[in-house]
Amino acid sequence: MNLLALAGQIDAGKFQPHLENHLPAETISRLHEMNVEGIDNQLKQVIRNPIDLTGEMSKDLLELYYTASWFNLFEILRVPPDAAVFEIAAGDTIYIPRALNAYSGNTTNATNATNATYVTANLNKELSKGFFQKTADLDIQIKIIEDDGVNLLDYYEHDSFEVVSFHHALNDIIQTIIADIEGIDTVNNNWWTIEPQMLQAVMRYNDQGKLKEAAYEPFIKIIDTCTKLLKKGGYIIFDNCTYAGYEQIGYSSEFHSSYIRLAREWITEANLDLEEVELDLYDKNWWMILKKL
Ligand SMILES: C[S@@+](CC[C@H](N)C(=O)[O-])C[C@H]1O[C@@H](n2cnc3c(N)ncnc32)[C@H](O)[C@@H]1O
Repeated sequence: MNLLALAGQIDAGKFQPHLENHLPAETISRLHEMNVEGIDNQLKQVIRNPIDLTGEMSKDLLELYYTASWFNLFEILRVPPDAAVFEIAAGDTIYIPRALNAYSGNTTNATNATNATYVTANLNKELSKGFFQKTADLDIQIKIIEDDGVNLLDYYEHDSFEVVSFHHALNDIIQTIIADIEGIDTVNNNWWTIEPQMLQAVMRYNDQGKLKEAAYEPFIKIIDTCTKLLKKGGYIIFDNCTYAGYEQIGYSSEFHSSYIRLAREWITEANLDLEEVELDLYDKNWWMILKKL
């Protein structure tokens, strides 16, 4: 979301009661010593293209940026505080469950602070285990389905969720589709060990003009499943960013930065029951919000 607007909210203490309490005390006190301009400058050093995590407080600022951006989205889109949210391809960061936990427990109209439900589908065994441990202290209900997100209708009925989120997940999903074709086991291997292999395979398919032929159909099947899982009027929300440091292994930041555009093109072509919603504070290059008609 827009960094100056976010800096103003941080300065006004909007996230102090919930999201900031996960950050180290040192980071919080440094943020509180700054004015809006200072916070904006700090955010700008991290939230850029590609994301720069070399600075001292950068990981904390990235966490605050994402948890606050998702918290604000729930608020702007008037997601009910007891919503059911499905995140596909989680496993590393826990920004969405943290944002939902804060939102469901802190909205003024919350009827039951612990009533929100968060479900994720995740294929990689080791990451699922870690994710379970990382989210253990949250109040909301957390469910991890160790299966491909495309199969979620085997577990949940149509119209079960208010929101489906793709946090930095377009890349993971496309990588997994290509890895399957290439015979790379993404379930039992350590994800980070096979990551260079997967990224290089995706680049090869892209450079040879074969990416759409290989990935379009399985990708659209996932989006179609997510659309069916959504309640009418619910949202599928995507964010995408590129981290610095991947060019060295032959992965293009420019290619990664085009994921939202690519998903927009493919989803539009598939003509599903979805309509894009544009929000002033959310840049269309990095965010895409689709409403189920
Ligand atoms: C790097 S991790 C988590 C990334 C997460 N989006 C984040 O930014 O924190 C990628 C995970 O996505 C999972 N994944 C990829 N495609 C998937 C799919 N179709 N269904 C379920 N999980 C999937 C992988 O199994 C892996 O555990």
